[in-house]
This record gives sequence, structure tokens and C-alpha cells, in this order.
Amino acid sequence: MGESLNGLKRTIMCGEPRENNVGSNITVMGWVQRKRNLGGLVFIDLRDRTGILQVVFGEEINKEAFEKADLVKPEYCLAISGKLVERQSINPKLPTGKVELLGESIKILSESETPPIYIKENLDAAENVRLKYRYLDLRRPDMQKKLIIRHKTAKIVRDFLDENGFLEIETPMLTKSTPEGARDYLVPSRNFPGKFYALPQSPQIFKQLLMVSGYDRYFQIVKCFRDEDLRANRQPEFTQIDIEMSFVEEDDVIAINERLIKRVFKEILDVDVELPIKRMSYSEAMNKYGSDKPDLRFGMEIKDLSDVVKECEFGVFKNAIAEGGSVRAIVAKDCAGMGRKKIDKLGEFVKTYKAKGLAWIAYKSEDEIKSPISKFFSEDDIKAILDKAEAKVGDLVLIIADKNRVVLQALGALRLELAKQLELLKDNKEFNFVWITDFPLLEYDEEEDRYVAQHHPFTMPKDEDIQYLETDPGRVRAKAYDIVLNGEELGGGSIRIHNTEIQEKMFKALGFTQEKAWERFGFLLEAFKYGPPPHGGIAYGLDRLIMFLSGTENIKDVIAFPKNQNAYCPMSEAPNIVDYKQLEELGIEISKLDEN
Ligand code: AMO
Ligand code: AMP
Repeated sequence: MGESLNGLKRTIMCGEPRENNVGSNITVMGWVQRKRNLGGLVFIDLRDRTGILQVVFGEEINKEAFEKADLVKPEYCLAISGKLVERQSINPKLPTGKVELLGESIKILSESETPPIYIKENLDAAENVRLKYRYLDLRRPDMQKKLIIRHKTAKIVRDFLDENGFLEIETPMLTKSTPEGARDYLVPSRNFPGKFYALPQSPQIFKQLLMVSGYDRYFQIVKCFRDEDLRANRQPEFTQIDIEMSFVEEDDVIAINERLIKRVFKEILDVDVELPIKRMSYSEAMNKYGSDKPDLRFGMEIKDLSDVVKECEFGVFKNAIAEGGSVRAIVAKDCAGMGRKKIDKLGEFVKTYKAKGLAWIAYKSEDEIKSPISKFFSEDDIKAILDKAEAKVGDLVLIIADKNRVVLQALGALRLELAKQLELLKDNKEFNFVWITDFPLLEYDEEEDRYVAQHHPFTMPKDEDIQYLETDPGRVRAKAYDIVLNGEELGGGSIRIHNTEIQEKMFKALGFTQEKAWERFGFLLEAFKYGPPPHGGIAYGLDRLIMFLSGTENIKDVIAFPKNQNAYCPMSEAPNIVDYKQLEELGIEISKLDEN
């Protein structure tokens, strides 16, 4: 059964009626959240995306409507008309809780089978079921809230950038492989069998070309595609707020972006982000927090003990330092009493970050210390270590010796793990922003045995470091910046190279021959022959931003139709096989088949 509207118009949304509407005749349309028959009265909670309104049908008031209302089941789609009245028993939990609709007529617009998932807040259903029936999952109010926040955020961003002279310009989705690290999603070409388009990992090169074209200030809210291993904050297709500006330096890009961030957090959450946002160099972030996206909502900074242990008896420590590494520690406050098993587990944890072991000192009291390495140290040595680590009585010092990279990465991860275990961030409502600046321009890739660009090959080196591009590439810092919030990278960007000489040096440092560089980025290099302006920009992960604004740790919650961990869509069943004929047209033969 499915009645048509036949001219009937909705006059108000379910979540809108209030006491000042009492007495008016209204028509609402929506879905049945709940129906109860209490003898001569049928109650229906009708839901649309604005909320829920209670409707009551009385047998004595209108028998026909009452009987029809009694037929409905959850998720039936209805149109109901009647008079809004004051509610006898107020429901303080509902914004419409002081009123109810006295139903006079009801249309069953469509029936519903029993839905495979509950339409309610905080649903605890298996994720693949939720994704398979995503259209039902999206009926849930908490999902709708998140997508509404997403819409509003995108609008604020557009308005802000428009007010500041930015133009939104679209760039192609069918494009050429970009040099940005992740694996590309490829699209075979029918016109050129054996050739492929790549879906953009970002509009990087196109936005730079738009600067060459004189568009001056560009932005785009744009889908990007990266075939990488998925995590809680990564999707194969995600959205960037992509920005590029001409005639700017780092501070100019940062300044306008801080105002954008402030506007978004104020309008969506009524949170005042204090400006300027603090800045921290990459090297400080790494040394203090073992991460280029430090969570600064708590301390537990990494301390370097190398000075005080470099001549000690403990071979592990001594050798690590002698080989150019270091010995560093973090202090777990008030954890001197932590059980042996728990500490051993932390030891296992750091091994997943390539640390070979985890030494510890429990500072139980002024004159009681417990530690598996105490036999290698005099009492004075131990005091010196505790001093250097800034440990207090009652604390537990956790120490790793290794190559610097391993020490910092492992302690950085341990720091976050401890914060979780000790619930340091429980009920923390803070939004702690930081700009990470002065990134290394290049990173040594041991597998490829060459330097690779940390950000991308068009990132401008710091003026004072250009001299090292040829002699000591690892030392060169970049005009690059990331905006980090509560330990997550929200966005990142850089000032670009607009000078051919520097670009050539950069390619050389990356081990590209002239030919290879032209083969890959020829069209950009060609464009740069024609007066490119100094320019730079940034891109935010819009999905990640919405995660913060809507308070979820799962990126799928902020995307209407996301993929699962295997980049698969359980609802549409993409990816899927295609007709043989389609493959033939493309000149493609399948040599490896998915067995599932
Ligand atoms: P970058 O590669 O740092 O920079 O990407 C910018 C931001 O995009 C988000 N992001 C993702 N979000 C969800 N899922 C993913 N798989 C994913 N990958 C990245 C992150 C990240 O900070 N063209 C440059 C920007 C520039 O230089 O202007 C770029 O794409 O939040
Ligand atoms: P051992 O002498 O091998 O029993 O080690 C004594 C302590 O040193 C144990 O608690 C080990 O976990 C720890 N340890 C071993 N290697 C390292 C390392 N590279 N860094 C820090 N502690 C280590």
C-alpha cells in the first residue's frame, strides 16, 4: 500500500512545533519511530530529520483515522494532519515535548518491513550491517546530526573564503598520476587502450597551474583518492578543503587559515580558538613528543638521558650512544606501584615500534628504588637519571636506548598508550591546536636508497638552507606547515618552488634526471616558464575536521556512503566484476581474480 499525496502539502517539520503553534492546523510527514495503542488512543511518534512529534488519534474523535493509525508499524512513512494542542503529560526530553498533534487524517505513504537495524541513537550494531543498510543507518538522528554539521561547516568555509577573495574552481577527476606518495586509483582509457587516467590524490598541480593563470586565490572542496591501508581516520576517497594563494609567504597562509579555523569552531561549537595558534618546529615536536603530530593536551615529555648514562656500565645504553643513538625516557606520574605484568606489557608494546627493550625505574620512595637495571648503576647514577628525567617520588621512569628514530617513535607511541591507560584525557573537552613548522624537506628512503620529498617535490626549501641542497640534503628544512589538533594532522601545506634553478636542484637531490622530471611533471615545468607568481597553500582533511566538530573517532561516521576497512562498499557491492564486453573495449584481460 502506498497512498499518493494528492495535493497534500507539508506545513511544518516534525521537530518544529512549540507552544506558540498551539491551536493551528498542521500537516507533518515522516517516519514512525514508535506506535502504542492504549485502549481508545493510538500514539504515534513521527520522526523526520528535525526531530520527533507525538501524534494522538482518539477512537471517539475520528474512528476511521484511529483505525488506520492503528495499522502502522515502525518506519512506515506517513502524512498526518490535525490540530496542535497542549500536551497533558509534558516530555522534557523532547524539544516538542510540550505539545502534541491531535490527528484528524492520516495517509500511509508507504509501508516498511521490519528494518534490519534499529533506528535510534547510539546504535550498537555490527558495522558491516550498518554499511549494508546505510540508508537506514542514515535515518538515525545522531548520523543526521553529523551530516548536518558537515553541511554547515562546508558552508562556513565557502562563505569565509568567498569573503576573502577566493574563487572556487573545479579541477579534473580524470587526470595523470600525481607525485604524492600513496598508490593511485586508476581508470582505464577506451580511446587509448593500455593507457590509464589516475584519480587525483589531490589537486596539487592543478591549483599551482591556476596560480600561474592568475586566479590569485583558489579553493575547492574536493574529493581525493588514495589507495592506502585504511585506518580509523583514513578513507580511500575523502574530501579536502584545498587552498592556494599567490604572492604569499608562510605567515600569510597561516594567518588566514587561523581565522578560518576560528570561524568554524566558533560557529559550529561556540568554541573560541585563541589566536595566534602556537607553533612548534618539527624537531622540537619530535624530540619532546616523538611525533610530528603531538597531542599537547598532556605533558609527559620525552627527556634525553644520554649525557648522564653515556659512560655507564650497562652495555645496552653505552653502545646505543656510542653508535650515534641515544637513551631517552618518559615519566609515568604516580605509577611507581605499577605491577610487573603491566610493565612487561608496555615492553611488548614498544617492541611493535622496533624498540629492543624497555628499561624502567620505579621511584618508590626517597630510599627505595626498584629497577631491573639498578645493578649497573651506583646510587648516585640512579639519582642523576631520576633528576634528568625530572621524576618525583612515586613515579615510574620508562627508558629506551636505540637509534634516535626508534627511541623517539617508540617513546612517542608509549606516551600516547600511557595516556590512554591512565585515562589522562578522560572527559577532556579541549581543542589543542598547534602548527608544526620547519619540516625536513627530504627524507632518506632506505628501501629506495635515495632522498624522497617529505611533502612533495614542489615544496620550497628555507632560504637559509638552500645552500645545503647539494651538499647535505638531509639538513634542508622546508617552508612547510601542518595544522595539528589533539594529536591528529588536520591539514598541511607549503610554499611552493616558483624558481627554475631551485626546482632543478630539488630534482637533483631527489635523484631525478632532467628527462624523468619532465616525463612526470613536464606540464608544470613548462607552465613555470611563463612567469609563475610566488605561491603557496594548504589542504585540510574535511572529514577529519568534521570528526572533531561532531565528536566521533570513526571517519565513516562523517561520510554518507563510506567504504569499509577493505575499501569495499557492502551496500552497492563496489568494487565488482564488469561485463566481458566492457573489458574488451578497454583492451583489458584479467590475469588475477579475487577469489571471494
Ligand atoms: P596532504 O597529503 O597532507 O596534503 O593531505 C591534506 C590532508 O588531507 C587529509 N587526508 C586524509 N583524510 C582522510 N583519508 C585519507 N586517506 C587522507 N589522506 C589525507 C589529512 C591531510 O592533512 N596537496 C597537499 C596539500 C598542499 O600542499 O596544499 C596534500 O594533499 O587531514
Ligand atoms: P637484560 O640485561 O637483557 O635483562 O636487560 C635489562 C633491562 O634492560 C630489561 O628490562 C630490558 O627490557 C631492558 N632493555 C634491553 N634492551 C633495551 C633497550 N634497547 N632500551 C631500553 N631498555 C632495554
